[in-house]
Amino acid sequence: STTLLEFLRTRTPVRGPKLGCGEGGCGACVVLISKYDPATDEVTEFSASSCLTLVGSLNHCSVTTSEGIGNTRDGYHPVQQRLAGFHASQCGFCTPGMCMSIFSSLVKADKPGTTTAGDHAPPPGFSKLTCAEAEHAVSGNLCRCTGYRPILDACKSFAADVDLEDLGLNSFWKKGTDRADVGKLPEYSSGSVCTFPEFLKSEIKGQMNDVPAAIAGEDGWYHPRSIQELHSLFDSNWFDENSVKIVASNTGAGVYKDQDLYDKYIDIKGIAELSVIDRNSKGLEIGAAVSISKAIEVFSDGTPVFRKIASHLSKVASPFVRNTATVGGNVIMAQRLQFPSDIATVLLAAGSTVTIQTASKMLCLTLDEFLEQPPCDAKTILLSIFVPDWGSDNVIFETSRVAPRPFGNAVSYVNSAFLARTSGDGASGELIIEDICLAFGAYGVDHTTRARKVEEFLKGQSVSAPVILEAVRLLKDTIMPSEGTTHPEYRVSLAVSFLFSFLSSLGNNQIEPAKAIAPNGSCANGSMNGQVASEDLQIRSRQELVFNDEYKPVGKPITKSGAELQASGEAVYVDDIPAPKDCIYGAFIYSTHPHAHIKGVNFRPSLASEKVIGVITAKDIPAGGKNVGAGINMLGTEALFGDPVSEFAGQNIGIVIAETQKYACMAAKQAVIEYSTENLQPPILTIEDAIRHNSYFQIPPYFAPRPVGDFEQGMSQADHKILSGEVKLESQYYFYMETQTALAIPDEDNCITVYSSTQLPEIIQNVVADCLGIPYHNVRVITRRVGGGFGGKGMKSTHIACACAVAAFKLRRPVRMYLDRKTDMIMAGGRHPMKAKYSVGFKSDGTLTALHVDLGINAGISPDLSPFIPAATIACLNKYNWGALAFDIKLCKTNVSSKSAVRAPGDVQGSFIAEAIIEHVASALGADTNAVRRKNLHSVESLTKFYGDAAGDAPTYSLIDIFDKLASSPEYRSRAEAVERFNGGSRWKKRGISCVPITYEVALRPTPGKVSILNDGSIAVEVGGVELGQGLYTKVKQMTAFGLRELCPDADGLLDKVRVIQADTLSLIQGSFTGGSTTSESSCEAVRQSCTVLFERLKPIKDSLEAKSGAAAPWSALIAQAKMASVNLSAHAYWKPDPAFVKYINYGAAVSEVEIDVLTGATTIMRSDLVYDCGQSLNPAVDLGQVEGAFVQGVGFFTNEDYATNADGLVVNDGTWTYKIPTVDTIPKQFNVELISSARDKKRVLSSKASGEPPLLLAASVHCAMREAIRAARTDFSVNSPLTFQMDVPATMADVKELCGLDVVERHLQSLSSAAEVPTPVA
Ligand SMILES: Cc1cc2nc3c(=O)[nH]c(=O)nc-3n(C[C@H](O)[C@H](O)[C@H](O)COP(=O)(O)OP(=O)(O)OC[C@H]3O[C@@H](n4cnc5c(N)ncnc54)[C@H](O)[C@@H]3O)c2cc1C
Ligand code: FES
Ligand code: FES
Repeated sequence: STTLLEFLRTRTPVRGPKLGCGEGGCGACVVLISKYDPATDEVTEFSASSCLTLVGSLNHCSVTTSEGIGNTRDGYHPVQQRLAGFHASQCGFCTPGMCMSIFSSLVKADKPGTTTAGDHAPPPGFSKLTCAEAEHAVSGNLCRCTGYRPILDACKSFAADVDLEDLGLNSFWKKGTDRADVGKLPEYSSGSVCTFPEFLKSEIKGQMNDVPAAIAGEDGWYHPRSIQELHSLFDSNWFDENSVKIVASNTGAGVYKDQDLYDKYIDIKGIAELSVIDRNSKGLEIGAAVSISKAIEVFSDGTPVFRKIASHLSKVASPFVRNTATVGGNVIMAQRLQFPSDIATVLLAAGSTVTIQTASKMLCLTLDEFLEQPPCDAKTILLSIFVPDWGSDNVIFETSRVAPRPFGNAVSYVNSAFLARTSGDGASGELIIEDICLAFGAYGVDHTTRARKVEEFLKGQSVSAPVILEAVRLLKDTIMPSEGTTHPEYRVSLAVSFLFSFLSSLGNNQIEPAKAIAPNGSCANGSMNGQVASEDLQIRSRQELVFNDEYKPVGKPITKSGAELQASGEAVYVDDIPAPKDCIYGAFIYSTHPHAHIKGVNFRPSLASEKVIGVITAKDIPAGGKNVGAGINMLGTEALFGDPVSEFAGQNIGIVIAETQKYACMAAKQAVIEYSTENLQPPILTIEDAIRHNSYFQIPPYFAPRPVGDFEQGMSQADHKILSGEVKLESQYYFYMETQTALAIPDEDNCITVYSSTQLPEIIQNVVADCLGIPYHNVRVITRRVGGGFGGKGMKSTHIACACAVAAFKLRRPVRMYLDRKTDMIMAGGRHPMKAKYSVGFKSDGTLTALHVDLGINAGISPDLSPFIPAATIACLNKYNWGALAFDIKLCKTNVSSKSAVRAPGDVQGSFIAEAIIEHVASALGADTNAVRRKNLHSVESLTKFYGDAAGDAPTYSLIDIFDKLASSPEYRSRAEAVERFNGGSRWKKRGISCVPITYEVALRPTPGKVSILNDGSIAVEVGGVELGQGLYTKVKQMTAFGLRELCPDADGLLDKVRVIQADTLSLIQGSFTGGSTTSESSCEAVRQSCTVLFERLKPIKDSLEAKSGAAAPWSALIAQAKMASVNLSAHAYWKPDPAFVKYINYGAAVSEVEIDVLTGATTIMRSDLVYDCGQSLNPAVDLGQVEGAFVQGVGFFTNEDYATNADGLVVNDGTWTYKIPTVDTIPKQFNVELISSARDKKRVLSSKASGEPPLLLAASVHCAMREAIRAARTDFSVNSPLTFQMDVPATMADVKELCGLDVVERHLQSLSSAAEVPTPVA
């Protein structure tokens, strides 16, 4: 049962492939698999997800990981070097997977005859890969840090058709100054990596003439070569379908996770009958074990129907899944397990037949008949699928799918495929439908079905508006999502849109053919009126940065420290630390009940539960310790175990311990918890519940935001009032690529070392010690790097560290835990949901006079960091001058997982609430929203009134300039006019454009730093902050080199001598936490102060050396002399900000232009222009990465990330299948970022500003632009209140469609056909 990933990570030194999801949905585990055919002497390579590939199915294959293509010792591969040089790696956890996806695309492209570029040799230094292919190369790989743009640039740098000048900021040439030249890039030549070793080829050749060792089975794996052999296995005594797993490529395990361990596996891929590909004049027969990628290749080279099938298949899953996943496995999942298959739908409409082998006979059935049958048993084998060749005469075939992402790994809400045979009516010239097949799938139905009543009705008809209207009516009687399906009405409306689009293309022009279902769909063949459809636009970008040499090398855009190491996969994260001797593993058992006594925990009898070594519960907390898993004493703590009462769904009840992580996770799934709700109050789950029950946390006065001015007076000055506006924002999950993890190693004398992926080493040290009842100096917490934090590795990381510590203490063995994605998502908590009700007063010219907000914040079960949220929310809401501001904030205590800080916590909600109110005001006045925004931006005086000291000096207030630059420019006006023109001429697609300003207050914190110079002159630096991917260590390195530059004649070389070492709570104390966007600058300042101390100590020695020699003293000589003179070469500083300058404000604005598809609700971000005041950037490349990455994370929050829970508050969108963060295909098609530097302000650290969180707020511009587009649609289709409507966060595709009107097709047809007679339906 071992997956390739598990094998590589636990039985070999390889650590490059990472576990990000275990379900094929993230790409962190991608490797290259190579197969060798001794007959042709050919090697075939393809990428695959190692988390789903079973190692038992890889006999005689070669596997290449990221370390295999390049590494520290042998030199890095150009893919790794370019990823680093294009600044495309931040936390680095996704990078090895990205690297392998790109590498395998290059391998594929450079094989003869496999690309659109054909066999022409690419220009020297390039691959045959095209830019378009480059965009799809990483379409299934998730990255939460970078925003994808630099990854794409690194990938495109290999493309034969790239214009290198179009690529973004990089370290190979200085953009705008140097000429972009391939010679400046790390050299690429195809075939430089051996993907299949000679010794293995020889071994395989040597066995060529051996009689195949039939079926085998010693290792539990059986490899039948024929159906006959398979049946003899089925007939043997040992076959028991409950403990034997039949697999083709096992990607189905990404969908239907194994609930138990298996004894035996039958690998059916080697069965010759399942691999046929037979093309003849009648059609194409495809063996069931043929991979989807191979099927695409075969179908692509065929008639239009085949090519459409290929095009649809290329949107299924991702390249690394399609390369192994079989067509047969998909169809069987559709038939047996109600899988929402695309393949079954397209094959059904194409009139396919299947050949199956049951226990007793071979049958040939239509796919329709096969799907209609009861789920086939385990002994039924699908042999092949036959797709007839329809030729091209009078046959029209279209397929569609609508999914949260166009290409990146998302199953569809609804898919469809339609095939019609038509004839021309001689008299009228109209098309008559002779025959038609309408297949719909994935809408919440057992399997793809045909809309037969609609088909019957349409036969013999020529298409007109009344005919389509009647067809739609009949369709709505057919498409009935089963109970429990999410967004049922939306799905029905999609099916209607599909049918309408198809039929209208057969009808007369009056119907306005809606060849429009293209975003996230496939029916529109990619183009409209000869233009490239918006979703097919290639991604372009521009970056404008200010470089400053004043504090060299601070201010240089140097590449992230360790980026190549991250790309090669050698960078060590917590789970990469080799397991210590006797290490055991833990997995949480969590409650699924929001408020219940835990009466007992038992395990289902199963192979997995046999693996349980023990269960750690609250009873195992040592005497003197406390049941505490998180918290800061002054705010309040949270229990480690729900004991004796579980207080929320997702709470830890106990920790299953087993010999491997997989066994522990699998065994935890077997736990059955006995609950009782006797004598307990019903749970409080929502803000409304909490308000009803007065269930609140107190907001300490020193954290409470303050009102401004006199609200009543402000209202009395208003010409207009809105008295009851409302807006809601839901939660957001962190989606760090590395889930929560820790390793605890017990040490002598009641000490313990905890390796933790955390933003809070110091707090973990404190909480672990409190939990174990030992002094703080007994606990050492070490953090080298974190695979993405975003706030989630703050309070939430302490639970797992404590859990490991308690288990390790009790069992006296090292204990490691690495949460599976589902458990992580269920326990994580995430962003605070909020509900704001507001009353606002304003004058007729748009000037605001007063605002009152009733704000409900769902904080969950414990205070966590929630007491900080109200102030952050109000601070960002204050970006406008409200005149007077009053509020009533309720921090609600509820029975849900505690909400914690998520990048820009509270700030993003506050900023958005302000926008929702401004939009409401503008709508009420019928005014342009940007004009109302501009009118109410602060003057310096009002800024000071709202922000106090944080407002700073007048010259630092850059927001008005930024806003004017973007929104008051002639370019903006002409774009706004173009949007209006577009909307006037386009019924089914609407565009919107909007500009959103932001203010973001940050606070500086005391931070330690330590700089030590070693005997050889190399420098070790320690800082309080942790490297999360935000570039902290890179900036600290630069600052160290700056701080010591005057001591070293080769100041540039100094940078290479600096190593920033891991955070260690016993080496550097008072590290505090990493967060709030200011850790980098604070850590830099602490380091600068340490360097100043060293400078003072070393300068006299340098002077005396130079006086003696008359020449500059080399660094090595200086350090040697200092050592001789017993100078202390280590300096430590604890930097404290000036009490008069603790806070400052960051400014920025963004214009986004979007296009929505009125038929599907899909949004394409056509363009985003971000301007952000970064001050005098410490490293513009790092800051640019922060700005882009934060913006894209914000886009996820505002558009697509639906962190849904069930009625008990248990997270149900708990994996990559249901929770959709942005992918490369959902970022802006044109993505421009400008970093500006406002006035120098020496009070800030070298005049720099923060960049980590504020730019996330800019993504509200996408939401606001979507609203403008929806307005245009509502106006066109006369939907109620076209201008004033509530639009919450996130605005998912379903929400957009609903706001545009679920019935727009019917409205449109109705208006066309009102005069015409409706034909009678055929019975
Ligand atoms: C991340 C991800 C995204 C995906 N997205 C999509 C999507 O958008 N649209 C879509 O349609 N599909 C999607 N899929 C599904 C994917 O197409 C299937 O998982 C895959 O085709 C199954 O093939 P397999 O060879 O891996 O089957 P396996 O996992 O090996 O088998 C699946 C099941 O079928 C049985 N089986 C396999 N072959 C046969 C056979 N020949 N005869 C009888 N039984 C057999 C197995 O016993 C098992 O029960 C996605 C999958 C993943 C992992
Ligand atoms: S870990 Fe394999 S795809 Fe996510
Ligand atoms: S760099 Fe991609 S997830 Fe962090």
